[in-house]
Order: sequence, then C-alpha cells, then structure tokens
Amino acid sequence: MSALDRVHNIDDFRALAKRRLPWPVFDYIDGAADDELTRRRNRRAYDDCDLVPRVLAGVADIDMSVTLFGRQLAMPLFLSPTALQRLFHWQGERAVARAAAKFGTMAGLSSLATVSIADFAALSDAPKMFQLYVHKDEGLNRAMVDAAKEARMDVIALTVDTIVGGNRERCLRSGFTSPPRLTPSSMLSYAIKPRWTLDYLLRERFSLPNLEAYVAAGSSVPASVADYFTTMLDQSLDWKRAESIAKYWGGHFCLKGVMAVEDARRAIDIGASAIMVSNHGGRQLDGSRAPFDALSEIVDAVGDKIDVICDGGITRASHILKALSVGAKACSGGRLYLYALAAAGEAGVTRALHLLHAELVRDMKLMGARTIADLNRDNLRWR
Ligand code: LAC
Repeated sequence: MSALDRVHNIDDFRALAKRRLPWPVFDYIDGAADDELTRRRNRRAYDDCDLVPRVLAGVADIDMSVTLFGRQLAMPLFLSPTALQRLFHWQGERAVARAAAKFGTMAGLSSLATVSIADFAALSDAPKMFQLYVHKDEGLNRAMVDAAKEARMDVIALTVDTIVGGNRERCLRSGFTSPPRLTPSSMLSYAIKPRWTLDYLLRERFSLPNLEAYVAAGSSVPASVADYFTTMLDQSLDWKRAESIAKYWGGHFCLKGVMAVEDARRAIDIGASAIMVSNHGGRQLDGSRAPFDALSEIVDAVGDKIDVICDGGITRASHILKALSVGAKACSGGRLYLYALAAAGEAGVTRALHLLHAELVRDMKLMGARTIADLNRDNLRWR
C-alpha cells in the first residue's frame, strides 16, 4: 500500500505534508495570524450547523455542476489561488492546474505564483482564475492584467484583505522567506528533509515570473510574505481604483476577501460578478469572523445579484453542502489542496480532489439532493 492509499481525508494529507516538508515551509502553509483563532474558527463554524437529510428522493443520478463566471464547473468546489507553490512541491502550480482540470473544476493562480500567467493558462482548457495583488508599481499591475487578458483567464479575483501583512508568528519564529534563506538556524530543518532540499536545489530555479521584472523582493531578494504585502502592495487601494481595474480588465471580476454586507453591496456597484467571502484563511486579521458565519447575511443582501463564494475552513464535503444550502454558489479552499500538493505533487492533489469528489457524491445522495438546486436552508438547523 502506498502512502497515498493510506490518505483518506485532508487531515491525513496535512500529516503527510508535515512529514515531508521542512518545518518553516510547512508552518508557512499551515500557520495563520496572531493566536490563529480565526483559522480554527473558519473550520469549526460548520460544526454549529447540522444537515437535515431528505429520503426516498431517487438519487441514482445526480448532477452537482454549477455555473460560475460563465463556465461550468463539474463540482461546486474550486482551488483558491495560493502563492509560492513550487516551494511546496517541485511540480507546483502545474500539478494543481492539471489535477483541477481532471475534475472539471477551476484552479486559481496567484500574482505570487511560481509559473507565469501564460504558462499556467496553456496547461488546460479548464476554467482559470487570476488573483491580482495591487502593487505600488502601476506598470506591474497593468502588465499582470494585460497578461491575464492575453491568456484569456476566466476571471480576475482582486484580493482586498491584504492591505498590510498579517502577523504570522510561526513565520517570524522560523524566519521563512521567499525565496527561502538558508540561515544557520534553519539549516537543520532543511538538512533533515533531503528530498525536498534536493528538489529545491536541482529542479527548475525558483522564481516569481509574474513579478520579477518589476520587483526583486520575493524573487531574488528574500522577503517574508507579510513584509512583502506591507511594503510592496498599494495601501491607497480603494473602491474607485478597484472599479477602474474592473473596467480595464473588462471580464468577470471578483473581490476576494469580503466579509461585510455593505462591502458586498458595493462590489455590485463596481461591476463585480462575484465575491469570495474569505478572511484569507485566518492569515490576515485574527479575530475576524468565519466565512460560513457571515454567509447567510451576505447571501440575503446580495445573493440574487452576485455570486457568493464561501472560501475558508473547508475540509469535508459536508462543509460544502452546508455553505451551498445557505446560498453560496460555490466553495473554494487553499490549504485543502496545498497539503496534498506538498505530500505528493500532482498525484496528491488528484487524490485530494478524488476524495472530496467522492464525498460530495455520497453526501448529496445521503442528503436526498439530485442537483445543487435541491439544497436550501430548509435542510439546515443551527444549534
Ligand atoms: C499568504 C498569501 C501569499 O497568505 O496569500 O501567504
């Protein structure tokens, strides 16, 4: 039995990732801000709500596809954009894009990705999201949006919750930077994971191709992600600017990191077609509310005008079914596939998606739901 056959859920993948990664890299993925309260709450929020299944519904054939950004996703879960993926496994974003395409779902590409927008877009015909971080360097912002246009990305997600870097104390302790700096104190953590270290040293050179022509930090000059956000991103970013970016882009536009009803309403005013209700995996403002807790009031306010995506804390299909029952159009997650990527590259992400897909099919049937439209608040009770 291979190690992957013994993995049955996202927590198993997390344990495997922990074994395979140098601890500064694992803690970068796994960690969050301050006391990591929000990170834990993101997941626990689903526990306060129970599913009420319906029976005898004739569920031999089910359809769990959803339409998002004008594209059909075969399952109501997509892979949120995350940074630095070739640091987690040498196959990086390529593995993630290919695995997502196998399941007919969307993968996101971060501005801080380790492959270029054009290379990522060429990997498959599946739907793709580009996540824009607005930098102080306007030439860079324009270059990224132009590259996304050229590559025909399906949507730009403008990140709005990273106006400064979150206080990630695990990263402060480990000294994690991009690219990694092998300090005398961190050397041992890399030396005891020779497979990772050899891959890092001998495979394709680490780079952030969407940024490196404009900024050295993160690509050739080591920087922590928190410092990168605080020094490189444009803190004057506001609604007017977001609207002008949406207009310049001209395609499907999404705000990633909306938590307040009033901001959800303003997203409609600036022409967004969706919002991702998200607190960046608890990596930014600790003490922030969980996406699932915020979902119902946001759906009630804007759900008939804009697609609402629930991003955060998802490790189980039942979490997804709860969010869809509240009225989310789809769900997304980052760590849920990053642990799998770190554990086993493309084979790992494929297995993670296989498990979640099988769990979704099983849970839809157990819920008596033949399509996503069968899910609604009648099948939920809060404790
Ligand atoms: C992070 C960014 C890069 O949370 O998304 O580390």
